[in-house]
Amino acid sequence: MIRLHIDPGRPDSAAIEEAARVIRTGGVVAFPTETVYGLGANALDPAAIGRVYAAKGRPAYNPLIVHCASRAEARQLSREWPDAAERLARKYWPGPLTLVVQKHEIVPGEVTAGLPTVALRVPDHPVALALMRASGTPIAAPSANPYSELSPTRADHVIKTLGDRIDLILDGGPTQVGIESTVVDVSGPEPLLLRPGTIDRTEIEAVLGRPVGSPTAFAGEVPRPAPGMVTRHYSPRAEVQLFPSQDTTAFLAAARERSGRRVAALLLQASPLAEVEQTIRMPTDAAAYAHQLYATLHQLDDEGYDVVLVESPPATPDWAGVLDRLRRAAAFA
Ligand code: TXA
Ligand code: MG
Repeated sequence: MIRLHIDPGRPDSAAIEEAARVIRTGGVVAFPTETVYGLGANALDPAAIGRVYAAKGRPAYNPLIVHCASRAEARQLSREWPDAAERLARKYWPGPLTLVVQKHEIVPGEVTAGLPTVALRVPDHPVALALMRASGTPIAAPSANPYSELSPTRADHVIKTLGDRIDLILDGGPTQVGIESTVVDVSGPEPLLLRPGTIDRTEIEAVLGRPVGSPTAFAGEVPRPAPGMVTRHYSPRAEVQLFPSQDTTAFLAAARERSGRRVAALLLQASPLAEVEQTIRMPTDAAAYAHQLYATLHQLDDEGYDVVLVESPPATPDWAGVLDRLRRAAAFA
């Protein structure tokens, strides 16, 4: 694997050209976006897409996001471009928002897992944009981590898990946003929030001037599947446990139950406990928390912690993206 360091502010054209050549010849390149690192390949080349799925160990039924250099390019990959897509794209692109629309026939079914829709976004990162312009093609890219594991916000996170499975990585330093983009489906009669992110529901609803639904009418009311049935996702190696804010009793009990194992804690307001070996005070601002979340969990994994006790952030719209990642990380495998 080739690692090329690149200044995220002023990407070096020789490095970009080398990475673009890998994309044009059907290879796989890891690159920074403003959210997390992506594992990219030519979105219009089914064989290259197959390599992305193979490198991640991702099931073929899970569609990829297609990254575009501009709104105009995104429109060309869609069969229909609804007014909702135009409004959201104008407001948030380039940026951490993915739009699901009806796909144009030029988008291969391999990218969309056979769905008639495609997920599109224009990332707000000079390296990602330069790579797409130099490649002359849209780039399909999931987050650059093995399936169900923690997403990468630094090149080292990618290299430690996928280093032997990719051709080249553009190392543009740490990413800004820190969690994956908000995904909104505007392909049907009602807009749906498929994945929360740092652009929250309230902001999307304000732009669209209407309520945004959730994927199923029963979201949040479905009984929790038994442990073992839950899909583990965005998960570190360590066991993650979430606690209601400032519930010191439950927090203390959990720490004591795990004596003999190495326990760390991510806290907001709660007081540190003597039973916890390492306490990390997390930011009380949702965007700052998101920026730091995955890097913190990667670090605790690297340091060999077995358990991470997390004080839950508030269940307000601005925290929905962070809370979703914490809940998934805490889902028992
Ligand atoms: O911030 C991000 O979105 C990062 C960076 C690299 O851009 N990418 C990312 O990709 O998180 P990935 O593959 O890990 O997540 C893609 C999400 C999944 O939740 C997937 O189910 C959804 O987008 N998705 C993709 N295509 C879809 C479609 N046609 N319909 C519904 N959901 C779709
Ligand atoms: Mg992912």
